[in-house]
Formats: sequence, C-alpha cells, structure tokens
Amino acid sequence: MRILEKKILTKLDTFGVKSVAEYFCELKNDKEIMELSRYFRKRGSIFIKHMNEKQSKLDILRKQIEQDKNLPLSTNLVFGEGDINCKVLFIGEAPGEKEDETGRPFVGRAGQLLTKSLEEIGWKREDVYITNIVKRRPPFNRDPLPEEIALYKPYLTKQIEIISPLLIATLGRFSMNYFLPEAKIMKDQGKLFRVKDYFIYPILHPAAALRGNAMMAIFKESIKRLPRAAEKAEKLKSGK
Ligand code: URA
Repeated sequence: MRILEKKILTKLDTFGVKSVAEYFCELKNDKEIMELSRYFRKRGSIFIKHMNEKQSKLDILRKQIEQDKNLPLSTNLVFGEGDINCKVLFIGEAPGEKEDETGRPFVGRAGQLLTKSLEEIGWKREDVYITNIVKRRPPFNRDPLPEEIALYKPYLTKQIEIISPLLIATLGRFSMNYFLPEAKIMKDQGKLFRVKDYFIYPILHPAAALRGNAMMAIFKESIKRLPRAAEKAEKLKSGK
C-alpha cells in the first residue's frame, strides 16, 4: 500500500470515518488520493471533528456499559452498529444467540430478513444504525424483563441522543412500547408517531414475520412504506 494512502487510512480510522476510509481503499491512483487528501485538508476538518465527536461519545458509552456492574445479564455486549449519521435508527428488543456469538445486532434469521427487506427497498444495512433496548442476550431468548429494560434505559437514551436520528423504527412490541406505552402492535405498526423530539415508526419484529405469510406481508409492507415515513418526518421536522 502506498505510504500516503496508508497514512490517510490510519488517520481516518482513528476518527472512525469507516466509509470514507473504505472509499480511499477503492481509489486506484495517487492523483485521486492526492485530490481527496487536499479536499480533506481544506474542507474536511469540520466534518472529521463532528464525526470524531459522535464516535468518541459512543465509544465512551460502550465502555460505560462494559464497566457497569449493576447491569443485568452476563452474556456478551451487543452495543449496536451502522452509520452513526443515519437518518433511520432501528431498535429491536434484545440480542439472540447469533448476536451474542458475534457481538452484532440482528445477524440471525430475523436479522437476515431485516437486511434483505431493506435491500428490497434499495437501502443498505450499513446506511442505517441498528441496536436493541436490552444490550445482552436474555437466557433462552426469553422476553426482556421490565427491570432489565429499566436498567439499560439510560444507555439507550444516551445512544439515541448521540446518534440523533431523524426517525426511530421500532422492531416489535417491546421496542414500540418503550416509546409508546399505550400502543398496540397490530393496530399501530406502520404508522408515524411524534414523541417529544423523535419520530417513531413501529414495525413488526422480523421474527414475528417469519412465523407466517400474513405477518410477513404486513412486515414487508411497513418496510416498503419506510422511505415515505422518513420523508414525512423530515417535512414535519422542518415545519414544511
Ligand atoms: N432480535 C432482536 O430483537 N434483536 C436482535 O439483535 C436479534 C434478534
């Protein structure tokens, strides 16, 4: 690898600007690399500073969760992953077996369905952020308990605040009721709600969609309407 390329990559990685670092990898000649590095020298410092702040705040938050001895569940931490500058943040309930093994959210069967359904509407998984209300796997994949949700709550609140997405897409009733305690999943999924500063769009849990054709159709339809919900949220936010 060329020295300049390596230097820039190391620097961008330090800042947590993963996708930009990957973009550099794809550049073929020194001229392109020089051009981009000049661009960053001139205009990129504010962007990098901003990215850096968000990423380091999330890094600190992850450390705090790791060190919090009062948190329930002793399985691996599944903090969340994706684009920290996303418009849409997906929140599920708690990691399952595959997620516990890999440390990544929604990578089992339900997660694969989510990823595929996003691709069907032209979205990439890497362009959204995915996390859970409870960040460790409950035994035998049981539902998260109210006290578990309560103890992880300050961390999710902080995570949402740092990422500050336009729209939160909740996956399943636990996540939906976290924001909308009175809502009913079959009645309210696929609708857009405003809760204080956030727009909430409840969706069925992909694991529920895997249980039958009717649920699958409802799940896919809500995902299909997600871009329109995000547009609507954007308009309402900007007061248009
Ligand atoms: N189900 C969830 O709610 N979250 C995951 O990360 C995986 C499955």
